Amino acid sequence: MRRGAVLACALALSGCEGVQNALGGQGAESANFIWLFTLFMAVCTVMYVIIGTGLAVAVWRRRRQALVVDDRRHHETSGKVGPALALWTILIVVGLTALTIASFFTDRSNAAVARDPRIKLTVTANQWWWDVKYTTADASKTVHTANEIHLPVGEAAEVTLKSNDVIHSFWIPNLAGKQDLIPGRTTDAQLLPRKTGLYRGQCAEFCGVDHALMALDITVESKADFQRWYASQLQPAAAPASPEQRTGFAYFTSRECAGCHNISGTPASGQVAPDLSHFASRRSIAAGTLPMNDANLHKWIGDPQGVKPGSHMPTIAMSDADSRALTAYLGSLR
Ligand code: CUA
Repeated sequence: MRRGAVLACALALSGCEGVQNALGGQGAESANFIWLFTLFMAVCTVMYVIIGTGLAVAVWRRRRQALVVDDRRHHETSGKVGPALALWTILIVVGLTALTIASFFTDRSNAAVARDPRIKLTVTANQWWWDVKYTTADASKTVHTANEIHLPVGEAAEVTLKSNDVIHSFWIPNLAGKQDLIPGRTTDAQLLPRKTGLYRGQCAEFCGVDHALMALDITVESKADFQRWYASQLQPAAAPASPEQRTGFAYFTSRECAGCHNISGTPASGQVAPDLSHFASRRSIAAGTLPMNDANLHKWIGDPQGVKPGSHMPTIAMSDADSRALTAYLGSLR
């Protein structure tokens, strides 16, 4: 029993350091929510203790009365309930009013998070991955990526949310609350990260077989690092440098891959699957399913249905040499 309690505490505390933690408070909105949550918890705990104590006292007194059968005393006791009930009513009204006011101001504060967003991006949900496009007034500065978001710390970002198929939900617990992405409609979310770090977003609305494998890597970094990342994403994809990479490039651009994926500056211009122009610079493969490394990439290319069953990436019969060449080429796209 005691070991269980210690384990639960350790788990709860380790969660506070986690990349996917609603009590992390690394974003303005999430910090506001934590404050509101703590206030609700405190008020409700006080109310709970008062009710529990009152109930215990009532039971104890009723038991004593049962021992001394005295009608007159019973009537005297019930007469004293008046002021207690009045006090209790006042306490409830004051408590509920305080919570309503706190909730109202938290909402207002959250609405003001991104009044003047410096960063604008559109996230489009697909079964089961995220398309990410950074938009600016200058169309040539559009960055197109997938399954990852980079944000400069301390700068407000406005995220326009869309869906290409079913309802999904955009959720980065460390930064903000959830927002649905609905086909045929546009919704939005505001993010104001306050601490640099690596976080994990997760689709929070059941959207089919790979719902649990629909994650998003978030990198909150200094403004200089963000600008460096942005500039590197604007570059065309790296050209294949070794013979093996060239074989992989030839396979990719002449076979099924190019019909679905885009790699900037190459004949591969498909638009129905994640953009792979800077694929190897990402932290994970297949929307957070596997950490990015050559071994995992080789596994994913050879057997996508084994790694992420139901995913729209088909398993294509290919020689081991081809899958190694593809791994070498895609692994070079930094
Ligand atoms: Cu997308 Cu659940």
